[in-house]
Amino acid sequence: MTATYAIAVLPGDGIGPEVVQGALDVLDAAEARFGFTTTRNEVTAGANHYLATGELFDEVEEELRGADAVLFGSMGDPRVTPGILERGFILEMRQRFAQAANVRPVRLYPGVPTPIAGLTPERCDMVIVRENTEGAYVGRGSTVHAGTPNAVAMQESLNTYAGIERVVDFAFRLALGRRKKLTLCHKTNILVAAGQLWQQVVAEVGARYPEVETDYVHVDAMCFHLPLTPERFDVVVTDNLFGDIITDLGAVIQGGLGVATSANLNLDGSAPSMFEAIHGSAPDIAGTGAANPAGAILSLALMLGHLGEGEAARAVEAATVEVLAELPALAGPAMGMNTTEIGARIAELVRSGNANTDLVPDSLLGTLAALAPSRR
Ligand code: IPM
Ligand code: MG
Repeated sequence: MTATYAIAVLPGDGIGPEVVQGALDVLDAAEARFGFTTTRNEVTAGANHYLATGELFDEVEEELRGADAVLFGSMGDPRVTPGILERGFILEMRQRFAQAANVRPVRLYPGVPTPIAGLTPERCDMVIVRENTEGAYVGRGSTVHAGTPNAVAMQESLNTYAGIERVVDFAFRLALGRRKKLTLCHKTNILVAAGQLWQQVVAEVGARYPEVETDYVHVDAMCFHLPLTPERFDVVVTDNLFGDIITDLGAVIQGGLGVATSANLNLDGSAPSMFEAIHGSAPDIAGTGAANPAGAILSLALMLGHLGEGEAARAVEAATVEVLAELPALAGPAMGMNTTEIGARIAELVRSGNANTDLVPDSLLGTLAALAPSRR
């Protein structure tokens, strides 16, 4: 029987719709090649919708919840006060759908220029697993005497054993399918309470995975080691805010935000996982064809891996990697092809079966399938 997956498509704002369209063209090709099917429900949300209706996540929650996976473009618009869409939509989805692990591969693809002199693809292949529902992102805090010289702001970071345990356990299982090394990244010398809890959990969960070597790096030292000795890292597990920051650095190392991608994984099957490029909505270039759809298409590869279509996932990643290597630049008119042309070229490689999957010596996509929970 042909497998069918229900995909909720959330194009969002700015360049979101055009890069998601590229991913959907590639999905068409993958279905034709690999013999599975999807139903796609396009969900309207984002800045325009919010400005017109005041609606954020509440109104689409149930619609999204019914899907097997959510393919997300981007959200953000200068007309909307910063924080409204981020907190009111993206973080609501991550938290209410218990998308506990934000998986962000940092890999230097062959032929893609990196600003790090001398770095080679063999030396840069890691996965950063960012805790995705707690820490400073719970949005708790208070301000007294706001707007006056006596203002006081308290911002809380919430860390629970259960919340850390679920993401750390996932990171260990991911490491088991890879090079068997897990690095905790934190700031235990300053954030002592949270740091000790993270270390306790890593030690206790790690006892269940004796094959995996564990290591610890402070987040500031991480900013030094990540670009200079990326070969030191296989799976890195870290707090929400640290993960937010170091994955932007990771994106720079791998060539830029155009190639960086992520999976927001629900680990217990209670709700769908969500797949998105790391870049924002880039309203300044929306509609110009200057956006690189690679990040969105690589998020499609992660989605296919998660859904159990490992072969299709590998083909999509391989085709994307091949086309990335052909581009003289990773963004803007200097790419030599526009958004649609890049998507079409990747789709054609997938459809023809000519993508060279040797380019994806991957222990991520297959492992994602093995780690995916079954939905209800
Ligand atoms: C990311 C983004 C988001 C975050 C924003 C848009 C809420 O920076 O996915 O890394 O801070 O998590
Ligand atoms: Mg970020």
